[in-house]
Amino acid sequence: MDRVLNLILCIGLSVAFVSCANARIVPTNSSPLGHDDATPTGSNFTHVCDPSRFDQLGLDMSIFGYCDSSLPYNVRVKDLVDRMTLAEKVRQLGDLAYGVPRIGLPKYEWWSEALHGVSNVGPGTFFDDLVPGATSFPPVILTAASFNESLWKKIGQAVSTEARAMYNLGRAGLTYWSPNVNVVRDPRWGRTTETPGEDPFVVGKYAANYVRGLQDVEGHENYTDLNSRPLKISSCCKHYAAYDVDNWMGVDRFHFNARAAEQDMVETFLRPFEMCVKEGDVSSVMCSYNRVNGIPTCADARLLNQTVRGEWDLHGYIVSDCDSIEVMVDNHKFLGDTKEDAVARTLKAGLDLDCGVYYTNFTANAVVQGKVRETDIDKSLKNLYVVLMRLGFFDGNPQYKSLGKDDVCTDQNIELATEAAREGIVLLKNDNDTLPLNSANFKTLAVVGPHANATTVMLGNYAGVPCQITSPIDAFSKHGEVNYKMGCGEVACRNESLIFPAMEAAKHSDATIIVAGLDSSVEAEGLDRDNLTLPGYQTQLINQVAKVAKGPVILVIMSAGGVDISFAKSNTNIKAILWAGYPGEEGGRAIADVVYGHHNPGGRLPLTWHEANYVDMLPMTSLRLRPVDELGYPGRTYKFFNGSTVYPFGYGLSYTQFNYKLASSKRSIHVKLNKYHHCRELNYTCGAYRPPCPAIHIEDLECKDHFDVEIEVQNVGKRDGSEVVIIYSKPPEGIAATYIKQVIGFKRVFVAAGASEKVNFSFNACQSLKVVDYAANSLLPAGGHTIIVGDSGVSFPIQVKFDH
Ligand SMILES: *[C@@H]1O[C@H](CO)[C@@H](O)[C@H](O)[C@H]1NC(C)=O
Ligand SMILES: *[C@@H]1O[C@H](CO)[C@@H](O)[C@H](O)[C@H]1NC(C)=O
Ligand SMILES: *[C@@H]1O[C@H](CO)[C@@H](O)[C@H](O)[C@H]1NC(C)=O
Ligand SMILES: *[C@@H]1O[C@H](CO)[C@@H](O)[C@H](O)[C@H]1NC(C)=O
Ligand SMILES: *[C@@H]1O[C@H](CO)[C@@H](O)[C@H](O)[C@H]1NC(C)=O
Ligand SMILES: *[C@@H]1O[C@H](CO)[C@@H](O)[C@H](O)[C@H]1NC(C)=O
Ligand SMILES: *[C@@H]1O[C@H](CO)[C@@H](O)[C@H](O)[C@H]1NC(C)=O
Ligand SMILES: *[C@@H]1O[C@H](CO)[C@@H](O)[C@H](O)[C@H]1NC(C)=O
Ligand SMILES: *[C@@H]1O[C@H](CO)[C@@H](O)[C@H](O)[C@H]1NC(C)=O
Ligand SMILES: *[C@@H]1O[C@H](CO)[C@@H](O)[C@H](O)[C@H]1NC(C)=O
Ligand SMILES: *[C@@H]1O[C@H](CO)[C@@H](O)[C@H](O)[C@H]1NC(C)=O
Ligand SMILES: *[C@@H]1O[C@H](CO)[C@@H](O)[C@H](O)[C@H]1NC(C)=O
Repeated sequence: MDRVLNLILCIGLSVAFVSCANARIVPTNSSPLGHDDATPTGSNFTHVCDPSRFDQLGLDMSIFGYCDSSLPYNVRVKDLVDRMTLAEKVRQLGDLAYGVPRIGLPKYEWWSEALHGVSNVGPGTFFDDLVPGATSFPPVILTAASFNESLWKKIGQAVSTEARAMYNLGRAGLTYWSPNVNVVRDPRWGRTTETPGEDPFVVGKYAANYVRGLQDVEGHENYTDLNSRPLKISSCCKHYAAYDVDNWMGVDRFHFNARAAEQDMVETFLRPFEMCVKEGDVSSVMCSYNRVNGIPTCADARLLNQTVRGEWDLHGYIVSDCDSIEVMVDNHKFLGDTKEDAVARTLKAGLDLDCGVYYTNFTANAVVQGKVRETDIDKSLKNLYVVLMRLGFFDGNPQYKSLGKDDVCTDQNIELATEAAREGIVLLKNDNDTLPLNSANFKTLAVVGPHANATTVMLGNYAGVPCQITSPIDAFSKHGEVNYKMGCGEVACRNESLIFPAMEAAKHSDATIIVAGLDSSVEAEGLDRDNLTLPGYQTQLINQVAKVAKGPVILVIMSAGGVDISFAKSNTNIKAILWAGYPGEEGGRAIADVVYGHHNPGGRLPLTWHEANYVDMLPMTSLRLRPVDELGYPGRTYKFFNGSTVYPFGYGLSYTQFNYKLASSKRSIHVKLNKYHHCRELNYTCGAYRPPCPAIHIEDLECKDHFDVEIEVQNVGKRDGSEVVIIYSKPPEGIAATYIKQVIGFKRVFVAAGASEKVNFSFNACQSLKVVDYAANSLLPAGGHTIIVGDSGVSFPIQVKFDH
């Protein structure tokens, strides 16, 4: 997304990304609403099918079937589309749909963003004096670290309420191109901040929850005809698919051809999108800039029409990333296509809407030249208008009519943003229970480092304008006398000149908080990292401050991707380490709440923190997840990488201790086979036991078998706290080239000090024990699987047996 934005960055502005994002990239103050003219702001437009609106246009609404709310949506959208000429139709296929005043159809801007709050990146939404800001929740990677599904959904609900309120005021659209659900395959990826991490199942669960939070109208979650299910706002899972290189060593996303094995497509790259569509019932999917195995994703009929619309049964529209079709012609030079060839190709592949002007400018010619049928356009327009009908664009939505200014930046939403950061923050080290600090004992605080006064950095990218901001020094000054020294001129920390004053502050203060890390000058859209270390002299700053500090030293890292901080992990002068992602508008407050024990941290790393030399072992451009011995590739993500790490996926400490007791579980699954069940081969390692019937294709099974896992989590420490219980499955020993383990479920549970809570899971055996073989078949293997409960050491076997 945001090619324009990216270009701005590439021209060399290395200032905080947010300042670019807030600088509008498209003309501002053009209302996204259905204006019949170009009235800038403060619309009194409520919905299309309003008789008085038609009166003003000199039209009689009653003759327009598309406004007859007694008819089903498919009949109404057909009437609407059939009224348009070809020239009128193509003007509705870009993100700015021009409308057709002749038939009462207003214009509409499809492009709005709400990755972690209502954003003004995208011309459909803007802020001004009437609505100066919206709640800026932490960027997704931190919220993901909470492993709290209800939090993810609740944030979606808060964001969509603010979006609806802003829509009512003519400041926002109804269609939001969020969330980003690409898996973080490589720790260098610049857009890690936008995503829920490296595990495809966790990413898919995040997607399903956030999308339901954004889209679901209370009481209308389940519908028999999903094409008429009402939407609060429309959400979009992007960027489909295998998009995870931005710009690495001169390879950029506009030229990148992702060579992905079908095995990895099924197991990793497509899985979150499949969950987003099937579990989240998302109303849009966005195709990406890159090619997959030679074909630009937006031109791939197999990926779009066959998989998303056909197999997964999308109810909604497919949109391109901004200027994807142009990228296809100019950068990929795909099949030497002309502009007309390209628009014809993408329309036929199933791409309904072009974020850009290619459809608008070139589709009419493509039809005249015989390259695409008018009915291909009609099909796309119908997909688009059904979504707008479900949103109440045509008929209004009484349920949300009363929302307004007072529903944006409410105290409740600002508190939720703070809570998200508190729940996400990960405690990485806490020697001798140094944390939490007791403010009575630490009257003076040295708060040092390049992020000690972080403000907009905490908002990350795709942010809007926040309601307010609380920096770390703001928050810590409520607990003691703050001695603030930056220690570096900027995140790049190009020289040592400012280290001495920071050391002096530490020397004379009762405790020292160092806030260091990365920002968008290091990891950003359009910018991947080359290394996993802290930039410039930050390491020296941290070590030198720690050496001379009078009191305990606490290191806080702000970053999206993992950083090799082995030096700090082993430095006995650094007592505690926290990872705070980019913590959003109230980030400073959340950090201080954790440091002082007003919140007991329970977040877990949603991705592996690799050692610095990891990236020397494999190019970012290799998509293979499994180790490749011949090439010395070590494997990617916790599922396939078996080497040493700085901190593993799922890592995180607490101020209390938890014990797990396995309360019950089913230990074996017997599947009765009939003569139509054929055993599938699997590759085993040399000498491993090979069952007579190694596996069955899960499509051939009823898949009704479940196993339950009931765990008692005891808080055996002295503080209340929340524990994230992560359940993994591990395939039978001996199966070659499969994952080491994989997440199959997780729950965050609050347990009072001294108390215990039961946590129950029910797993479908096919879904939770399957492996994907080299030929991309999803198989249930026979033999002894292992269920592993977090890193508690608790595990138990499950036997899968096939009986004839
Ligand atoms: C909006 O309100 C103004 C003033 O009340 C009125 O003149 C105008 O016609 C209205 N426009 C629409 C589209 O209803
Ligand atoms: C998960 O999030 C919900 C919604 O914000 C919150 O009420 C709940 O306390 C959280 N659960 C835990 C265990 O922290
Ligand atoms: C929809 O219905 C199913 C089955 O009745 C239920 O499991 C599910 O939770 C419902 N979904 C929502 C979002 O309420
Ligand atoms: C799109 O998918 C549908 C149903 O899956 C199929 O009937 C149709 O032929 C496909 N169209 C193209 C162009 O692949
Ligand atoms: C598309 O058409 C508009 C209006 O004619 C024109 O200004 C613009 O340059 C065209 N863009 C492209 C990429 O062809
Ligand atoms: C914890 O404190 C004890 C006693 O003060 C000390 O001997 C020990 O080295 C400390 N451990 C760490 C990891 O700092
Ligand atoms: C902290 O940053 C803000 C925003 O950049 C700035 O206005 C303020 O002066 C800074 N505070 C200090 C103490 O430097
Ligand atoms: C050292 O860094 C500071 C802060 O970025 C800068 O102002 C100063 O000019 C640099 N000094 C040298 C000698 O490069
Ligand atoms: C690592 O990357 C950062 C940011 O791109 C750069 O500033 C730094 O110099 C690099 N460090 C090393 C050791 O190459
Ligand atoms: C084992 O894997 C290789 C590909 O790596 C394949 O050629 C071979 O057929 C596989 N054997 C079985 C039994 O699946
Ligand atoms: C991981 O590495 C350890 C130690 O080298 C080895 O014992 C183990 O078998 C490996 N596990 C896998 C799944 O490769
Ligand atoms: C977990 O399951 C057990 C037994 O099946 C049941 O007694 C208990 O109430 C369940 N607990 C929760 C929290 O659902």
